[in-house]
Amino acid sequence: MKEKLELILKDATEEINNAKSLQDLDNVKLNYLSRKGELNSIKKNLKDLSDEDKRIIGALANKVSNQLEELIASKGEELYKVELNQKLNSERIDITLPSDYRPQGKVHPLTQTINEIVEIFQGLGFSVMPSEYSPEVETEYINFDMLNFPPDHPAKDMQDTFYTKVAPNVILRSQTSGAQIRQMLNQTPPVRVISPGRVYRCESVSARKNNLFHQIEGLLVDKDITFADLKGILNEFVRIYFGSARPTRFRASYFPFTEPSAEVDVQCIMCGGKGCRTCSGTGWLEVLGSGMVHANVLRNVGIDPEIYSGFAFGMGVERLTMLKYAINDIRLFFNNDTRFLKQF
Ligand code: DAH
Repeated sequence: MKEKLELILKDATEEINNAKSLQDLDNVKLNYLSRKGELNSIKKNLKDLSDEDKRIIGALANKVSNQLEELIASKGEELYKVELNQKLNSERIDITLPSDYRPQGKVHPLTQTINEIVEIFQGLGFSVMPSEYSPEVETEYINFDMLNFPPDHPAKDMQDTFYTKVAPNVILRSQTSGAQIRQMLNQTPPVRVISPGRVYRCESVSARKNNLFHQIEGLLVDKDITFADLKGILNEFVRIYFGSARPTRFRASYFPFTEPSAEVDVQCIMCGGKGCRTCSGTGWLEVLGSGMVHANVLRNVGIDPEIYSGFAFGMGVERLTMLKYAINDIRLFFNNDTRFLKQF
């Protein structure tokens, strides 16, 4: 048995020294030191020996097993370091490598303005109208007639309209105001909504005018709504959008679907009110149209003007964006030149 133990020590030591990985080392441990290992089978047979031999062989077996444990532990440390270094080397990242260039997209300035204005009005208790109430291909009936434009009245010429060949009287809408009609046909007061969208006009394109532009329509109908409510809401809007330092004024105007009607001007951002080319020398720039909803319009959608009243407004998104950022050509919004768009 003594020889056998010495042989185990010799073989195991050799195997430990030759181990190339922690896995090899585990195998050695399993073969010699585990419950089913070689040393244990010797220890199990000790019971058949004389007391004297039991003592000597037992002590020797313990010594061998301690010695092997120590060898395995120190070899294990060595192999652990080797494996760790291999892993670190293979997973090394070269932080000096140039990265991929991923250009970052931006939200279009007009979309930014629309989002901003929608948020302002949501803060004032308005909600956004369902988009099906505001189709871009519209009937003359909704775009004009229901809004109290008299047939063949020159007021229709205020807005040069694109006619389609789809059917007679089917047009590209010239204003978002038709959305008011569809909303009121579908909802009884109180109504408190806004509706952003595209509109089209058959005009020659210039720095100030484009065939396609964007409007945001607003409508509030309830009991006891007065011009003071209109002024309060629109003043608040201008104050938030332009900042409180910008003077504004209400100026009497005319729209067929409102009575009385008013336009809101803000002081010219170019000259500060002194008068310049941008404001045609007046010192003021128009930013929106508004008014008290005409009794005929309310009647057209079946709302009793004796019980309800309301106000409406419509603003040009391009114009509001140009005034805020001092942009002098509306065509810049539609050219898709990234040098322009990147600035927002
Ligand atoms: N629809 C008008 C336009 O395009 C703007 C407008 C004026 C809208 C007065 C309104 C309003 O709702 O009350 O010129």
